[in-house]
Amino acid sequence: MTSINVALGDRSYAVLIESGLLTRAADHLAPLARGRQLAVVTDEHVRPHLATLTAGLAAAGIAVSAIVLPRGEATKSWAQLERLTDALLALGVERGDHVVALGGGVIGDLAGFAAAILKRGCGLVQIPTTLLAQVDSSVGGKTGINAAAGKNLLGAFHQPALVLIDPDVLATLPPRELRAGYAEVVKYGLIDDPAFFAWCEAHGAALLAGDARAQADAIAHAVAAKARIVAADEFETNGTRALLNLGHTFGHALEAEAGFDGSLLHGEAVAAGCALAYDFSVAQGLCPPPDAERVKAHLRRVGLPDGLAAARTRADGARLVEHMRHDKKASGGRLPFLLARGIGRTYLDRTVDLATVEAFLDRQPR
Ligand code: GLY
Repeated sequence: MTSINVALGDRSYAVLIESGLLTRAADHLAPLARGRQLAVVTDEHVRPHLATLTAGLAAAGIAVSAIVLPRGEATKSWAQLERLTDALLALGVERGDHVVALGGGVIGDLAGFAAAILKRGCGLVQIPTTLLAQVDSSVGGKTGINAAAGKNLLGAFHQPALVLIDPDVLATLPPRELRAGYAEVVKYGLIDDPAFFAWCEAHGAALLAGDARAQADAIAHAVAAKARIVAADEFETNGTRALLNLGHTFGHALEAEAGFDGSLLHGEAVAAGCALAYDFSVAQGLCPPPDAERVKAHLRRVGLPDGLAAARTRADGARLVEHMRHDKKASGGRLPFLLARGIGRTYLDRTVDLATVEAFLDRQPR
C-alpha cells in the first residue's frame, strides 16, 4: 500500500493507493462511520463499484445508504445539489458523519460541496473511480458545481478526511475516459517535472493499454505531486497551486464552446489547452519550439487532441476569449495564464493581454 500524506496541519489526511482497496475499504471507513450508517453518493455507471463497497461494509457491520445521481457534467448543478442535500438531510447525516463520494470528478465535486455546506460542514471521504479523479480532483479539497455563466463558479474548499484509491477500478473505465484522465497525468510532468514527462513518453501508451503497474506508478507520482502543491498553497493564493491550472484557461473555453455535452471531455479539453499554452508560449518567444512539438507529439501519440483542430473547435478567437472572461481566476479584467519556458518550466503570467490571445487563437488552424 502506498500512503501519501496531504500535510495541512490539523486537517492533514492520507491518500491510500492499493490494488483491491475497494474490497477492503471497510478497514479504513469503520473508524469514520462510528457505528452509524454511511451515506455514499455515486452515479448510475458506478453501480458495480458501489456493490463491491457495500458488500465489504456490510461484512464489517456498516450499513450503507446510497444516493445514485445521473451521470455527466450536467449533474454538477443547483438542481442536483438541492436533491443531494435534501437526501442527506433526510438520512439524518450529522456534522460528525462522513459523506462518501464514490465516482469521478463530477460526483467528487458535487458530494464534496454538499458536505461543505451541510450543517455548515460535515466530513467527507473521496473514493475516486476515474483516472482523472484519482490523480487530481479527489485530492486537495476543491468542491463545487457549475453555474450558467461557467464551470466551477460556485464552490468551496473542503478537504476530505481520507482518500481511498483502488487502481483496479480503472479496468472498467471506458478507454476514452481513461485517456482523458491521462491528460491530467501528463500535466504534472509539464508543470515542473521533465523526468516525469519523459516517463509518460516511455510508459503512457502502456498505461492506456491497461498496464496495472504503469497505472499505479502514475497515480502515486501524480498524487505525491498534488499533495506537495496543495500543502504549499491550499487556497491557491501564492501562485503554487495555480500551476495545476496548466491548460485549463484555454481548455475551459473549449469546453464551454462545446457545451458540456460530452463531445469534448474535460481531460480532452485540458490536453488541447496544454498544447495551446505551449504554442502560445512559443509565439511569445518564451518556449523553444521543439519543446512544444514534443508535447504535441506525445498527446497525438496517445490519441489526445493537440490543439483547436483536433478538439474540433470552430469558434473564432473573440468567442473563445469571451468564454475566458467568465473564468473565476479573472481579476480586474485580467486573467492569469499558465505559460511555459520549456517542458517542466511552467509559470504563472499575470501580464497576458487578452487581445494577444485572441489574435493567437485566430491564427490557429481549424
Ligand atoms: N484541479 C486543480 C486543483 O486542485 O487545484
